[in-house]
Amino acid sequence: MTKSSNFLIAPSILASDFTRLGDECQAVLEAGVDWLHIDVMDGHYVPNITIGLPVVQALRKRFPNAYLDVHLMISNPDQFIEPFVEAGANLVSFHPEVSHHPHRAIQRIQAAGARAGLAINPGTALETIDYLIEDIDLVLVMSVNPGFGGQKFVESSLRKLRELQALLDQRGLSIDVEVDGGVGVNNIAQIRDAGANVFVAGSAIFGSPSYAETIGAMRKALAVSQHKPSQ
Ligand code: DX5
Ligand code: ZN
Repeated sequence: MTKSSNFLIAPSILASDFTRLGDECQAVLEAGVDWLHIDVMDGHYVPNITIGLPVVQALRKRFPNAYLDVHLMISNPDQFIEPFVEAGANLVSFHPEVSHHPHRAIQRIQAAGARAGLAINPGTALETIDYLIEDIDLVLVMSVNPGFGGQKFVESSLRKLRELQALLDQRGLSIDVEVDGGVGVNNIAQIRDAGANVFVAGSAIFGSPSYAETIGAMRKALAVSQHKPSQ
């Protein structure tokens, strides 16, 4: 349950060219990203089907040292915890409302050797994770409704991030706060100011002509001194 020391950039491979997935991942890793964000969807919890275990296994095989950030958008994630960790996930995040036993699921992820994250949708209240927050490694604040890349950032996520930061401070907790959906060069600093330290970006990176330039611009925006709101 330790917080990463730097700001981390995690491209969502959902926005990559799937016909060249390995090379796309290599390109963003060479461009200096920190994590690969892998969106697993089942067509049941969300209205889309994407990728699953074989893709995680293949990425782990090709990139033995890459940090694989697996975001499960599936019903009953409890059923797939150990398989995703065994496939190579370093971090497994799931949506607590579709887990039968979210507290146990967190323990199982950690016992299997990965870090555990809880994902909360734009319409999900922070209270949902109130009794789980002491035991997790990361909160994944969804800033779009899960299911698709390329959606517009939901502004109320900023208020949720600030409230989450206040809750973590109040409890003396220091864990990673990841934001997922609609993140780009233009809003990344504002999202950081609200409390996030891990930034998922799919279309903003893979949809840009130069991955290195876009990632560089994100890092530059993150390096600009932090805005401290007056108390
Ligand atoms: C949405 C996914 C996101 C998505 C982000 O369900 O969890 O990771 O791919 O894509 P962009 O950055 O394009 O909003
Ligand atoms: Zn995601």
